[in-house]
Amino acid sequence: MASTIAGLGLRSLRKLQSRTADQQSSLQQAGLFFRNFIRHPLMLGSAIPSSRYLINRILDRVDWTSVRTAIEYGPGVGTFTRPMLSRMTTGAKLLAVELNQDFSFALREQIDDSRLLVQHGSAIYVNRWMRSKGLASADLVLSGIPYTVLPRELRLRILRETRKALAAEGVFAVYQYTRAVLPDLQEVFGSVEEDFEPINVLPARIFYCRV
Ligand SMILES: C[S@@+](CC[C@H](N)C(=O)[O-])C[C@H]1O[C@@H](n2cnc3c(N)ncnc32)[C@H](O)[C@@H]1O
Repeated sequence: MASTIAGLGLRSLRKLQSRTADQQSSLQQAGLFFRNFIRHPLMLGSAIPSSRYLINRILDRVDWTSVRTAIEYGPGVGTFTRPMLSRMTTGAKLLAVELNQDFSFALREQIDDSRLLVQHGSAIYVNRWMRSKGLASADLVLSGIPYTVLPRELRLRILRETRKALAAEGVFAVYQYTRAVLPDLQEVFGSVEEDFEPINVLPARIFYCRV
């Protein structure tokens, strides 16, 4: 009886320790994100990472059993990257393309998962990065890039390269704080479906684009 109670106490203590470690690492990630926002506000477009409501709204719609290759643009501190990996099958790959060097470095250091391939650079070169890593086409591309602050020519180039990278049934999911990018998405993609997540700083517009 005493040993059962001691066992239960130890388990609760371990659970508490692991919860505290998770909270600490979330705080560290938020700190790294905020420091980089101060240095590169336009590149990041937001001072804090996406909310779990936004993450779940987007990721819950995906049929993860049919995703062999996923790509993430602008993973930042890995806010979507970790939950994506936890939903992906064991044989799938996730290519995370990040323009910010600090974030690319932190992702490589902190996420120990052989399915994750981190590429420091711009999403414009997505097809080059895919070729260099032996990835044929993407079933899912998720984008957190703040498109509204980019010059239109650059924005269109990223969108056109993404269309080329997608598999025939692939989906390009984009989250933004405004609808300003919608006309460009409609110009490049065959269909665009809209969604909205209010519980996020700022409330997010979501677009699901298909070839
Ligand atoms: C709004 S933050 C999103 C961060 C994270 N995915 C989230 O949801 O919390 C935008 C991210 O896009 C990255 N970024 C901006 N332009 C990029 C580009 N051309 N290619 C790849 N990443 C880019 C920024 O460095 C930043 O990490």
